[in-house]
Amino acid sequence: MKTKKINEVRKQIEYEYKRNSYPDGFPKIPDISGKRYTDQEFFDLEFKNIFLKSWLMIFREDEIPNPGDFKIFDKLQRDILIVRQKDKSVKAFYNTCSHRGAPVVREKQGSTKLLKCQYHSWAYDLDGSLLRVPDERDFLELDLSCRGLKQVHCDTWDGWIFISLQDKDPGSLKEFLEPVASEMDCFKSSELKTIWKNSTLVKANWKTCLDAFMEVYHSPTIHKDTVNILLDGNGMAAGLLKNGHSRMVTPKRINLDGGMLGAEGQDFVPFIETCDSIHAETNVAYAMFPNFITPTDTSGYVAILFWPKSLRETEIEYLQLGPKWEGKEKPQYWIDQETSFYSIMEEDFKNLEPMQKSHDSGVFEKMPLNYQERRIYYYHQTVDDWVGRENIKSEMIAEDILSPFIEK
Ligand code: FES
Ligand SMILES: [Fe+2]
Repeated sequence: MKTKKINEVRKQIEYEYKRNSYPDGFPKIPDISGKRYTDQEFFDLEFKNIFLKSWLMIFREDEIPNPGDFKIFDKLQRDILIVRQKDKSVKAFYNTCSHRGAPVVREKQGSTKLLKCQYHSWAYDLDGSLLRVPDERDFLELDLSCRGLKQVHCDTWDGWIFISLQDKDPGSLKEFLEPVASEMDCFKSSELKTIWKNSTLVKANWKTCLDAFMEVYHSPTIHKDTVNILLDGNGMAAGLLKNGHSRMVTPKRINLDGGMLGAEGQDFVPFIETCDSIHAETNVAYAMFPNFITPTDTSGYVAILFWPKSLRETEIEYLQLGPKWEGKEKPQYWIDQETSFYSIMEEDFKNLEPMQKSHDSGVFEKMPLNYQERRIYYYHQTVDDWVGRENIKSEMIAEDILSPFIEK
């Protein structure tokens, strides 16, 4: 984060502590329709217009480090084949053979010199071009150059692989990720290691899940003995950023090594030297539209990805990144931190599934959001920008109210 921005955020925190009424000039946030969490048609529109179009962070580059390494990404109801190229770049394709549509590779992950379809052995180069067809004499006018694998937009940022399934040009990834990408530069994420990775299926709409990571209003209740001991929501400074992204900076009540309770006095506490001072004093969390949340710290960050499986089911993936260490054994710090992270997630999950049931009861019509919760509204209005308000039932629309409040 630039020094100017750090100073602005510090001022905002001071202002938040002093404030004892709703901020002057900030509009009333319209209620959000409860149907946005229970309507199948709306879910289908979201999936088609957001998840099948937007840039999406899928996994780390180091999962396919060498030319010929490939991995199937299957979280969007279709198999996408991600392949490390000979020149070390990454390409993505539908795992669908141009002959009769069989899956080209069957393994979830592997390494190969040639992508050979398991049905009739049509053979594709790593870049998706069709090289060889057995018994080619039996095809009339088969132009191999037009029968390559259907490519998917793919790019990388700081050690992460992103794809976009839209046919049109999705635009520059780096521009889409700004200003979050620049603010996160200090983590030098491409040099970090994946410490642990896991996922949980939560029986709740993807926005019910995501909303829960956009505010600290729930910390004194849901996380009374965990997050709330460490973070002080009274000084929380939220920032609405362009492209639907947002930032939440929450001051720490106490300064702890690596930001984790119980880490004090441990021999090894990871520390990223290039982190800005604000990361030591506060918890800086980002939301990158549409499905990535990350609370960060000087020890690294945990990437939380939300994958809608159905209207009422979300797969939440989480992956902790931190600096590499000497020696083979995982430091005690990370073993404790993983346990502590899961216990906090459990506190959220225990709340989310009953919430979905409650939303489904038919009485939940609309929800009023407060100033602290404005990132949630901004997020919903961005969902509607992507879905197209002309496609949404009028009573369910989240109008664009907060664009004038996006940070310049
Ligand atoms: S379907 Fe792939 S070679 Fe026939
Ligand atoms: Fe929470």
